[in-house]
Amino acid sequence: MKASAIIVAAGSGVRLGHPAPKAFVPLGGAPMLRYSLAAIAQVEAIGEAIITLPSGMEPAARAEIRAAGLAMPVKLTPGGAERQDSVRIALELASAHAEVVVVHDAARPFATPASFAAAIAVAARAGAAIAAIPLADTLKRVSEPNLIVATVPRTGLWLAQTPQAFRRDLLLEAHRRALADGIAATDDADLVQRLGAAVEVVPGSPLNFKITTADDLAIAAAIVASRAHRPATPGANG
Ligand code: CTP
Ligand code: MG
Repeated sequence: MKASAIIVAAGSGVRLGHPAPKAFVPLGGAPMLRYSLAAIAQVEAIGEAIITLPSGMEPAARAEIRAAGLAMPVKLTPGGAERQDSVRIALELASAHAEVVVVHDAARPFATPASFAAAIAVAARAGAAIAAIPLADTLKRVSEPNLIVATVPRTGLWLAQTPQAFRRDLLLEAHRRALADGIAATDDADLVQRLGAAVEVVPGSPLNFKITTADDLAIAAAIVASRAHRPATPGANG
């Protein structure tokens, strides 16, 4: 069967500091969530979506599913306390017929359909694949509060993004083992790496940054205003 897409959108966005939960903060006239839904709607290899939500946001999410033209079956679920808990909860709801699941942050509105397709294709072959980009800047280790103590060679260093795709059984084992062992990681790939499984990278993009702060939101709004990255909503003009 086609892949299951998990869109994690249950966070409150404390660092953004907007009254709405981050996935529902307006970006270029549409809630941030709509961009990710519009992207997966264009991925032929995805057959269902599971979305983690803050409590009370199910009606708003249903409206975004319609606005994004997402025609596949969708499951909505409350998220957990941490992102990792939200992914695990969604993963347990994924169809047992899906060979691959792809996990994506609603906080990354500019992930392309091609990046989902690439991660899914490589995960189907190799077991796991994540979008990532090579580090471009010079990396300094700084001791508190402001003294540089070393330049860290950046050769071989990449920045992990989402989408991250995995064979479903592999990611399930990784999450169940992490829960049993009390392991907290900042991405799903790390939990799979802990099993000793291979994880490949596929090309991410600097545009696929995570909206964390108000500055990030301002940059995202400027990108949308450039009209190059509007969500592909039915009936949208321009
Ligand atoms: N997320 C989630 N469940 C949680 C925490 C986060 O589904 N318990 C999701 C967020 O909605 C977001 C993604 O995971 O799409 C990445 O998390 P992050 O950028 O940290 O978002 P927030 O947790 O909302 O932001 P903050 O940490 O500033 O509160
Ligand atoms: Mg968070």
